[in-house]
Amino acid sequence: MIDPDRAAAAARRLTPVVRVAPAKLNLTLSVRGRRPDGFHELHSVMLPLALADRLSVARAEGSRDTLAITGPDAGPVADNLVLRAIAATRAAVGRAADAAPLAIRLDKRIPVAAGLAGGSSDAAAAIDAALEAWGLVAPGAVARGPEPADDDPELVALRALVAAQLGSDVPFFLAGGPALVEGRGERVTRLRPIRGPAPGVVLLTPAVPSPTPAVFEAFDAGGPAASPDPGSVARTSEHLASELRAGLDAAALVARAGVLASANDLAGAAAVVVPGLTTLRRALLRRLGRPIGLSGSGPTLWVLYPSASEAAAAADDIRAGLADGSLEAPGSGSPSVVATTPADRASDAAATGPGVDGGEGGA
Ligand code: C5P
Repeated sequence: MIDPDRAAAAARRLTPVVRVAPAKLNLTLSVRGRRPDGFHELHSVMLPLALADRLSVARAEGSRDTLAITGPDAGPVADNLVLRAIAATRAAVGRAADAAPLAIRLDKRIPVAAGLAGGSSDAAAAIDAALEAWGLVAPGAVARGPEPADDDPELVALRALVAAQLGSDVPFFLAGGPALVEGRGERVTRLRPIRGPAPGVVLLTPAVPSPTPAVFEAFDAGGPAASPDPGSVARTSEHLASELRAGLDAAALVARAGVLASANDLAGAAAVVVPGLTTLRRALLRRLGRPIGLSGSGPTLWVLYPSASEAAAAADDIRAGLADGSLEAPGSGSPSVVATTPADRASDAAATGPGVDGGEGGA
């Protein structure tokens, strides 16, 4: 007779693991100085968004990991952080597991090199998907929060270590919700999700790169790239973190948009690296009559609305402005305009459950 547990385990091994990899938004970004290792000490409140890439991971027959990417140009496949994430996770689990080669499919929806950390999110999702594909965690367990459901302290430490190794933005995505990010990016403190109906978020990403190292370099050089008031950015960031620790609803968050929009110490540096960004930001402010923020090192600009429908209407208005030339964005290609909301953990968990999107099999 077939043992039902073993049959279920065998079925799971053959079902691709599907993960959503959300974009992030920096609601605040305070840069507290340059460290001896060249990185910068940060204090940032980050929010995962419903805008997300999708990763599908299946055990493969071949001798090495393979990756197929669909969507916006994410650069050479061999350099993709997802492959490095899988390799680093395999090295970290060592002989503890049968860490078989994996066939990975990545469906990109997050604009690339945009200050939304899409590549870092893909990498974080890849760590968890690999652990699940290798049978080291229960299906969907790690989708639920910062720690695997079985609470295995070794796995929790392993995920954190591999994530920090891969890049400064990767550890945030293991938190599975809004978080305060400190240090180089490796110290992550979970905050409460925004209460009540979801606020709307509009993202406008000009088709021009704003490489993070170049933005930090400009920041260090000072002059026009310096933060005009780092003390006030730090206070805003600390205040928002304490408010989100206690719990904040969408209306209260949107009411703070004005102060949050000026709470990014890298805004001046991004404006130096991306000529035309300040002009676009001012034009958007005039057009929408709402505060315009910058996510991370840019060039994505964000606008907060009390509801998803108001954000969708604003996104349509921005698209119309770009089409009729009344709004001009830097860069040679078309800018990306997206209306989204903060990520909803409940629906994310559902989307990543076993068997969902099984049609992506054989990645
Ligand atoms: O860690 P990651 O590779 O994503 O960082 C990219 C670059 O961003 C670094 O090489 C560094 O120039 C800059 N950075 C920094 N301080 C941080 C994070 C990133 O200076 N906390």
